Amino acid sequence: MKILVIGKGGREHALAYACKRSALCDELICAPGNPGMAKIGECVDVKDNDVDGLVTLAKERNVDLTIVGPEATLALGVVDAFKKEGLKIFGPDKKATQVESSKDFAKKIMAKYNIPTAAYKTFYDLDSAWTYVQEQGAPIVIKEDGLKAGKGVTVASTLEQAKEALNIAFAIENNSVVIEECLFGFEFSLICLVHNETVVPLEVAQDHKCVFDGDKGPNTGGMGSYSPVKKITSEIIDEAMNEIMKPMASAMVKEGVPFTGFLYGGLMLTEKGIKTIEFNARFGDPEAEVILPRLESDFVQAILDLMDNKPVELKWTDKVSHGVVLASTNYPASSTKGSLITGVDDVDGLVFHMGTKMTDEGLVTDGGRVLMVVTLEDDLQTAFDHTYKELEKIQCKDLFHRNDIGKKDM
Ligand code: AMP
Ligand code: GLY
Repeated sequence: MKILVIGKGGREHALAYACKRSALCDELICAPGNPGMAKIGECVDVKDNDVDGLVTLAKERNVDLTIVGPEATLALGVVDAFKKEGLKIFGPDKKATQVESSKDFAKKIMAKYNIPTAAYKTFYDLDSAWTYVQEQGAPIVIKEDGLKAGKGVTVASTLEQAKEALNIAFAIENNSVVIEECLFGFEFSLICLVHNETVVPLEVAQDHKCVFDGDKGPNTGGMGSYSPVKKITSEIIDEAMNEIMKPMASAMVKEGVPFTGFLYGGLMLTEKGIKTIEFNARFGDPEAEVILPRLESDFVQAILDLMDNKPVELKWTDKVSHGVVLASTNYPASSTKGSLITGVDDVDGLVFHMGTKMTDEGLVTDGGRVLMVVTLEDDLQTAFDHTYKELEKIQCKDLFHRNDIGKKDM
């Protein structure tokens, strides 16, 4: 089969890696891909926001299956465009992508179908939002509507922080915010393969969203992850499936917006049970980089079977995977570009490229999150030690990383 992976980040590198390992994959094309993906497939210079270009590429190259990485491409309607041309593609259509692209859409469905989540209200102007925040008090969570690459959320511990977040949000014309009750507990990511009412859970991972050790500093796209998560037992996963993931997939069918693709549940284990923090319409990043290397059964076969309404059985290694992100100095506020990176080929483990570029001088930084090093070992402590040892082999003057990925579960 010819498989096309759309995207250029670490998640897409991990998706391409999983496709490449499939016995069904004869040819792997990545659009536009990255220097890491170029080592396992053919990168074609079609941008991930060029829907027409992607359709043309898939038609010209007779692609049998396309897998979409980024939410922005989904929100542009890439799935609708491919389906119109009779091309097979795994991902939600534009309407179903709203489960991620519109916090309000997701919250309304959760409320209607009693899917546990934080209490919330949506606001369209600064004055009423600020009045509500003052009534509720801090801590409180302010979420801008729309796609924000993990950065539009402020968990405000004081009213001043909340006010600042509101000011920033409403400086943008026609913006709206969802204001939420602040939940406390243990966060985890449960990503499922979904086709209409069929929901197949993947192994659980834990992301680390804050930029600094000890969960300090602003939220990022994610600074590292590991899988599985010891604290999240099979009973907890069953509860999450029965109370959240399956009801959501079935609610979307009932609402006339059936979902196909990776449905990402950002969940929190609280004293009052499991609550939904958010849904995403695609695989998590940096979750894909630790979950997919643990999959022993055929990834492409699983997707095809799911879409053909056949039973899907996934096999996983018992090994623990652990990954740390190397990010540009000043991320998430800004990113440096063009700093030389050496030592990547010396790493004994997996290195996923998140934001790199190949130049005549060699590999350079090209984004906020740059690389992710992942190792698989018999237990989390061993994997933790191994990843951090391998990280030292990568040299670059403009990269930093967290030092405590996975510590909370050890
Ligand atoms: P989101 O983009 O909705 O996943 O939010 C980013 C991060 O903010 C989450 O991973 C949580 O760590 C935090 N967060 C979001 N909503 C809440 C909430 N209601 N209570 C506590 N923390 C939250
Ligand atoms: N790791 C968080 C996300 O992919 O949204």
